[in-house]
Amino acid sequence: MSKNNETIIVLDFGSQVTQLIARRIREINIYCEILPYTTPVEELRKINLKGIILSGGPASVHLDNAPIVDKALYDLKVPILGICYGLQVTAFLNNGIVEPSNEREFGRTEIKCDNSSDLFYDLPKEQTVWMSHGDRIKDIPNVEIIAESENCHYAGIKIPQLNFYGVQFHPEVVHTEYGEAILKNFAMRICDCSGNWSMGDFISEEIARIQEEVGDERVLLGLSGGVDSSVAAVLIHKAIGDNLTCVFVDNGLLRKDEAQSVQDMYKEHIGNAELIFVDAKERFLNKLKGITDPERKRKIIGYEFIEVFRDEAEKIKQNRGDVKFLGQGTLYPDVIESKSVHGGPASVIKSHHNVGGLPDDLELSLLEPFKFLFKDEVRKIGTCLGMDDALVWRQPFPGPGLGIRILEDITVDKIETLQEADAIVRFELEAAGLNKTIWQYFAVLLPVKTVGVMGDERTYENVCAIRAITATDGMTGDWAHIPYDILGKMSSRIINEVHGINRVVYDITSKPPGTIEWE
Ligand code: XMP
Repeated sequence: MSKNNETIIVLDFGSQVTQLIARRIREINIYCEILPYTTPVEELRKINLKGIILSGGPASVHLDNAPIVDKALYDLKVPILGICYGLQVTAFLNNGIVEPSNEREFGRTEIKCDNSSDLFYDLPKEQTVWMSHGDRIKDIPNVEIIAESENCHYAGIKIPQLNFYGVQFHPEVVHTEYGEAILKNFAMRICDCSGNWSMGDFISEEIARIQEEVGDERVLLGLSGGVDSSVAAVLIHKAIGDNLTCVFVDNGLLRKDEAQSVQDMYKEHIGNAELIFVDAKERFLNKLKGITDPERKRKIIGYEFIEVFRDEAEKIKQNRGDVKFLGQGTLYPDVIESKSVHGGPASVIKSHHNVGGLPDDLELSLLEPFKFLFKDEVRKIGTCLGMDDALVWRQPFPGPGLGIRILEDITVDKIETLQEADAIVRFELEAAGLNKTIWQYFAVLLPVKTVGVMGDERTYENVCAIRAITATDGMTGDWAHIPYDILGKMSSRIINEVHGINRVVYDITSKPPGTIEWE
């Protein structure tokens, strides 16, 4: 926790979107951190606390083991904003009645608000918000109602004697029209923050934190060629210099010519941090032979990475001394989709390789400076650190690589086929100048064969899917509306040039309900 910055703390009750609250607050240049709802109130007295936000969560206050905050929180004399469950728990602790709602409200809802209240100050009286709740407040004494919806009398409230504001909807999600403005009103008008924090402050504080945590020990960092691990390398290198060794593993699941281009790029762009390249193609592909289940593939790849890192750590140990830390560029979305971060009961979507595949007996402590950040925030840090745009704006590429874009079992032939198709997708999209607006674009090899005709010959080959998605942080996204002529060019080039593919389809699934990767 930062001691000096003006801070807003989010106490987490396990919502999948809790981190979005912190991100929105950081976007308005206020330092924000998420802590478990069980954090002792005494800890909060030690920092420059300007406000508290109680997050939403999946629980009901009526459950036997419902998560409840310490009532002393309300004596801290800082403004508190309760969102959804955070509102209900406050009502419950302050003589209110919370009941299961007959009409469950989910999705876009119209509210009428009092725009002379500080929370809705200067915003339209009628606005669309995003609701997602089962329980609702039936009654609560001594409150001012500042927003109402058709099914929810207490859509927004103020409890003056507690310095508490509460909303039943979620201002942190983009579907709430004025969500950002509502959070800004809370932070600036109500908490009186000055908004003078920046990513530059994050960098200097994180460098100091890494120095304190690592001391004189050695760190081994897995570089993937992607943005996150590259920025992590530069940041950690700034903090501990030569005690960092970066390892780039060619697992055989990289894109066409990537192993070489990444080596060249790193030599040019990540300064003088020590770099080791490991050719581990064979050991990865041997372990993956015949494996078809997506989660097993992810776990095997994750495990094998760790084994390679362990072997490299052993070699360093023999030459220069023990390695105590494993550095990774893990981001918040990787963590939240793999496991619960702050102790809340979030559900597992897929095991991101650098999170879900870690063995229990890992002898290395993890050093993950971006564990609570999103990719666009890491890109800002990369730019602040003076890193080259070519590296900072590389499209995301998952740790398990093409392994999760070849559905069913992985073979060398399939990898080569996919590499060729994928190179065409990337080339055409980049040639059309669309790569700056599209978050990710790639090919997927499907385990489906279809009949085609080429010249006078019958063909019976695999289908390739093109996936291109627009997003800001990878948590949600929409399929990219690529012009037909570019799709057409990709399709005819893939079918003409790539042996083994005779049909191309375009994936028009957004996230949610789909995920970006197919496995
Ligand atoms: P999904 O498929 O979960 O992907 O919608 C969201 C973002 O995460 C990337 N991704 C990964 N990144 N290790 C990573 O480092 C992984 O195991 C992993 N799986 C997915 C994906 O490419 C997208 O950017």
